[in-house]
Amino acid sequence: MLEDNLPTMMKALVTTGKGGCGCLIKVHSVAQNPTDWKTVALRREEGNIIGCDFSGVVVKMGREVPSELRFIGERVAGIVHGAFCSITLSLPDSWSFEHGAQLGVACFTACQCLYQYLHLPTPLGIPESVPEEFILVWSGATSTGQYVIQFAKLSGLRIITTCSPRNFDLVKSLGAELVFDYADSYTFKHILTATQGRLTMAVPKSFGESGGNLAALLPIKSHIPSVKTEWHFLNLSCLC
Ligand SMILES: NC(=O)c1ccc[n+]([C@@H]2O[C@H](COP(=O)([O-])OP(=O)(O)OC[C@H]3O[C@@H](n4cnc5c(N)ncnc54)[C@H](OP(=O)(O)O)[C@@H]3O)[C@@H](O)[C@H]2O)c1
Repeated sequence: MLEDNLPTMMKALVTTGKGGCGCLIKVHSVAQNPTDWKTVALRREEGNIIGCDFSGVVVKMGREVPSELRFIGERVAGIVHGAFCSITLSLPDSWSFEHGAQLGVACFTACQCLYQYLHLPTPLGIPESVPEEFILVWSGATSTGQYVIQFAKLSGLRIITTCSPRNFDLVKSLGAELVFDYADSYTFKHILTATQGRLTMAVPKSFGESGGNLAALLPIKSHIPSVKTEWHFLNLSCLC
């Protein structure tokens, strides 16, 4: 995989943070994301790191890392995103390294879409009575979609999602109430009917006349003026 002028793959050791604030982590497991190949294909910049999600063990700590925050030998999971920012979480003993490694990009992206962009109540702060509102999770069987379904459900929403028929049972088991095949050209009509045109959080074609908010993971834009589209990009800097 390594060639001249290509970004480097995530190594066996990952440095999180900078200088004295950083930790050196011996990587045990990694999870792959579409951004890994997209960075190779689209962003060939010197110093870029391929690979974001990892779990492992802290082997060295910077002088400024508080001992109550991290310790040598601690099992951790985290994300490195580009060369600039990283997040590391303590991994409970009951979690395997493999499970820990997938807590990164998909999980954080789902949380940021739901709670920072759509401003839904977090599962920890749900008001006593939650309006029974639908959210459409397009392509709910993706890694990100599976997190969005589960968090949105915990936030009290009713979930409509799309995926291939082979994944219908999977997304239902995660909390989806209605599931349609994204490849079926009648899916938009089915969604409009099911929501009686009152959907406010979804993809453009399924919105009712009053429009709504679309949190997109890829750069698309709605041509319907009442539908506000935001290309959501995982942003770790606001969490570091
Ligand atoms: N902007 C950001 O910060 C950000 C962050 C994370 C991800 N993303 C982007 O979001 C997308 C999903 O990422 P992910 O890691 O969650 O994906 P993933 O887990 O790799 O998604 C795989 C699934 O995509 C579904 N799929 C394939 N072709 C599709 C199509 N034409 N229409 C709808 N679904 C289709 C398939 O579902 P079925 O098996 O049901 O067919 C497949 O199982 C990627 O493009 C990724 O680059 C962006």
